[in-house]
Amino acid sequence: MQCVATAAFSLEGIVKRELIRLGIENARGEMGAVRFEADEKKIFEANMWLRCADRVLIVAGEGKVTSFEELFQLVRKCPWGDMLPRNAAFPVSGKCARSTLMSVRDCQAITKKAIVEAMKQHYRMNWCPEDGPKYQIDISIHQDMARITIDTSGDALNKRGYRTWNGEAPLRETMAAALVTMSPWRPFSDMALHDPCCGTGTLLIEAAMIQSDRAPGIKRAFAMENWPGMPQEDFKRIRQEALERFDPEKIHDISGSDIDPEALKLCKKHIVQAGLGGRILVYQKDLKELQVETEKPLCFIANPPYGERLSDKKQCEKLYRNMRALHGRHIGSRMSVVTAHTGFERCFGLRAVKKHRLYNGRLECEYLTY
Ligand SMILES: C[S@@+](CC[C@H](N)C(=O)[O-])C[C@H]1O[C@@H](n2cnc3c(N)ncnc32)[C@H](O)[C@@H]1O
Repeated sequence: MQCVATAAFSLEGIVKRELIRLGIENARGEMGAVRFEADEKKIFEANMWLRCADRVLIVAGEGKVTSFEELFQLVRKCPWGDMLPRNAAFPVSGKCARSTLMSVRDCQAITKKAIVEAMKQHYRMNWCPEDGPKYQIDISIHQDMARITIDTSGDALNKRGYRTWNGEAPLRETMAAALVTMSPWRPFSDMALHDPCCGTGTLLIEAAMIQSDRAPGIKRAFAMENWPGMPQEDFKRIRQEALERFDPEKIHDISGSDIDPEALKLCKKHIVQAGLGGRILVYQKDLKELQVETEKPLCFIANPPYGERLSDKKQCEKLYRNMRALHGRHIGSRMSVVTAHTGFERCFGLRAVKKHRLYNGRLECEYLTY
C-alpha cells in the first residue's frame, strides 16, 4: 500500500531515517510527510516504533481536481469496498490550501457522498449503517492535488499513553524525541544527559525510551487494530517483540531539574506512569545555581521559556545569560537549546556550532547546539 507518515515541518528527514531503520527502504521525504510503501505488518510496526511522526496514513487515492465533479469521480473510483467493511464508520476531515476548491466543508461533504455511493454499490445496500469500526478519512487538497487517506494510528502518535497531565508549555513528545536525536548526546555511549528546565519531563522520558530501546507505542492502541481482516497474530508478535526489547537496565545518567515545584510534581508522576520510575533523577533547582555532579561527558538539552509576552522577555534574556554561565561552569559540556526567541544567540553570547530551524506547534524555533 501507498502510505504517508505525517510529521512536523522540518522533521521529515528524521522520520525518513526512522522508516529506513525499520527496513522500509523506499521512504521519500515530502513537505510535512514521508511517503513509503508497506503492507499491514510494516504499517503497524511504523505506528509502534516511529518516535517523531504524527500519524501513519494509507493513501486511498490521489489526483488533480479543479471542480467538485472531478473530486467526486476521483473519490468514487477508489476501491472502498476492498478497504472498508460493510459496517465501517467513516468520518471525513479535510483541508484545502492554494487550490481552486477552497471550501473545506464542501470537499468533505462531496468526499463523504462519493464513498457512500461506492460502498452502497459494492455491498448492494441502500444505506451505510456506519455502526462498525472507525476509519478516519481525510481529504487534503494542496495546489489542486487531492489526496484521500485513511488514518491507521487513531490518536496522534505523540500520545504515548503515559501523559495524563499537561504543564504550562509542554513539548510534544514527537518533537522532544527529535530534539534528543539531533543533540550531541549519544544514548549508547557513556555520556550523561541533563535537562535544566525539565518541566513535565518530556525530553527526559523520550531520551530514556530511546536509551532503553522502548517502543514509543507500547502503552497504547492503534486504530488499525480494530479493523477486520488485519493480521492480528502478526500485530501481537510485533507488540510482544517490542516488549521484550525494552530493557530499563540500559538507562543511565539521565537527569533533570526545574525551578517550579508544581512542574516537577507532574514530571515525577509522568516518569512513574511511563514505567520508568527510579530510572531518571529529577530535582528542584534554579539553573543559575545548578551544578551537575558527573565524571562523564555531559550534554544539556533544554527547552527554556521563550518569553512570548513582552513582560517575560527581559526575564528570559537573563535566564539565557545564566544558561551560558551554566555551560561555562561545566567544562567540556555540550548544550542544545530550542527557542523561538530570536535574540537567544545575542543573550547567550556565543555562536552556535549547529543550527536547525524547527516548528514547535505553530511557533518557528531554532535549535542551537554549543
Ligand atoms: C517551556 S517549559 C519546559 C517544558 C518541558 N520541556 C515540558 O515538556 O514540560 C520551560 C521550563 O523552564 C522552567 N524554568 C524557568 N526558569 C527557570 C530557572 N531559572 N531555572 C530552572 N528552570 C526554569 C520553567 O519552570 C518551565 O518548566
